[in-house]
Formats: sequence, structure tokens, C-alpha cells
Amino acid sequence: MVKPNITIMDIIFNKKPKQIFFIVTNQDMFQPIGYCYLNIVGDQAYLRGLWVDEEFRRRKIATRLINRVRRYAKNIGCTNFLVDTHPKNELAKSLFRKMGYMELVKFQKELAVNGD
Ligand SMILES: CC(C)(COP(=O)(O)OP(=O)(O)OC[C@H]1O[C@@H](n2cnc3c(N)ncnc32)[C@H](O)[C@@H]1OP(=O)(O)O)[C@@H](O)C(=O)NCCC(=O)NCCS
Repeated sequence: MVKPNITIMDIIFNKKPKQIFFIVTNQDMFQPIGYCYLNIVGDQAYLRGLWVDEEFRRRKIATRLINRVRRYAKNIGCTNFLVDTHPKNELAKSLFRKMGYMELVKFQKELAVNGD
């Protein structure tokens, strides 16, 4: 399948950003077709909210977007880049594995309505 021409814009809301939004647009139609944002905590960069329009999936848009966001994080001095997803999100898991991300163990405890 042909790789679409895309533009990736970053949107920063203040001079020392903690959150940077990245929007992918299709150059032919200038239509938003993907996004994510980056959360900065100290020197740790967390990728969040990744999404690609269904019509444009499996054309490496997420891969290109993540690589671009990684470079951005590196350029502003971050030393670690973390990605996260729901344990049942097989699409995201196969994407991160394909890109060479290492799987870490997570712990969770539900916040029950009548418990602590
Ligand atoms: C997950 C998502 C962002 C992937 O976007 P994408 O642009 O289609 O991903 P890419 O084309 O860069 O895929 C790269 C690799 O990821 C894996 N992958 C992606 N989609 C897959 C699918 N539907 N089935 C199996 N593997 C898949 C493949 O290994 C793929 O490489 P290949 O096409 O050479 O086999 C997209 O499916 C999406 O927006 N899903 C809904 C929202 C979501 O789950 N976001 C992640 C939250 S963390």
C-alpha cells in the first residue's frame, strides 16, 4: 500500500511545556488523520492518547508519529521514552513490539466504590 504524504505538527501551549500535542494531517486534503500527546515528567517522556484514523491504518503513520515524538523528547533532554496501553489492546501491543519496545510489568488495584 502507498505511504500517504503526511505533515506532523507539534503544538506547545507554554514555553516550558509539560504537554505537547502532535497532530498528523494528510497533505492532500489537509485533514487530521492522527494524533498523540507527550507528557513530560522530569526527564521522562510519556506518549499518550495515540490514535490513527481507521481509513489510514497499517500505513506506518503511528510508527512515523512515534518516531517523530521520540526525537522531540530527545531534543528537549529527556532520557527515557515510555509508551503505555491497556493490557487487552492487542493492536497497540503489536505496534510497540514491532517498534522494539520492551514490555514492563505493571501493578494495579481497582478503586472500589465501597472500599479503599
Ligand atoms: C494502534 C494504532 C495507533 C496503530 O496505527 P497504525 O498507523 O495503523 O500503525 P502502523 O501502520 O504504524 O503499524 C505498525 C505495526 O504495528 C502492528 N499493527 C498495527 N495495527 C495492527 C493490526 N490491526 N493488527 C496487527 N498488527 C498491527 C503491525 O506490526 C504493524 O506493522 P506491519 O503493518 O508491517 O505488520 C491504530 O490502530 C489506532 O489508532 N488504534 C485505536 C486507538 C489505539 O488503540 N491507540 C493506542 C493507544 S496506546
